[in-house]
Amino acid sequence: MPEEIDPLLKYFDNYKTTKYGSNSYYETSYNNTDIVIAYSKIGKVFSALTTTILIEKFRCNMVLFSGVAGAIDQNLKIGDIVVATKTAQHDLDITAFGHDVGFVPEGAKFIDMNQKLVNIAIGVAKSNNILLQKAVVATGDQFVADEDRKLFIEKNFQADILEMEGGSVAVVCDSLDIPLLIIRSISDTANMDAGFDFDKFLEASAKISAKLMIQILHKIISLSKI
Ligand code: ADE
Repeated sequence: MPEEIDPLLKYFDNYKTTKYGSNSYYETSYNNTDIVIAYSKIGKVFSALTTTILIEKFRCNMVLFSGVAGAIDQNLKIGDIVVATKTAQHDLDITAFGHDVGFVPEGAKFIDMNQKLVNIAIGVAKSNNILLQKAVVATGDQFVADEDRKLFIEKNFQADILEMEGGSVAVVCDSLDIPLLIIRSISDTANMDAGFDFDKFLEASAKISAKLMIQILHKIISLSKI
């Protein structure tokens, strides 16, 4: 969402805008590293499209995802920050044919995130005294504001957070062999107050996630110059 990239655009402030495929891409450069910033709009299809364009048109060789999420794990509170260890699609369902929920043939129920990037994120958080918790991410084309749906996702995916893009971005990155890092800050707890909480905390939580992502980006760039 625009709120999720605003803090990034403000940070880099000098960028070139390209319109492509009903979306805007903001190209900037930092320390001789080309960076393209985009929000996809909400959901799995838009985010898969945007990720594909970032990789295929703009030749991105790494994808860093920053945004907000709803918490499933009761220990996660609004404003907490997580790094994805693996993603799944909680609304992918061909159980009628005997398959596990979240699985389709030639796919995988879970996609593991790039371990090196997860470790860098954890190291950066630690050195900035930020508690960054590992999370299994469940993605679906649904804003969840319902305890029963939350329980279904927890039971079937052992997920800690839920959102609407990580799982689809992961499918694209995994298929095209592009390392992916997902950082999300909690905006709500996916209960009946979720809509209200989301509206109230979207901006603040998006800023928390973006701030850490910028610190991680600095680290990644410094490591790539060695
Ligand atoms: N992103 C942030 N909160 C969410 C929720 N409750 N459901 C789906 N996506 C979200």
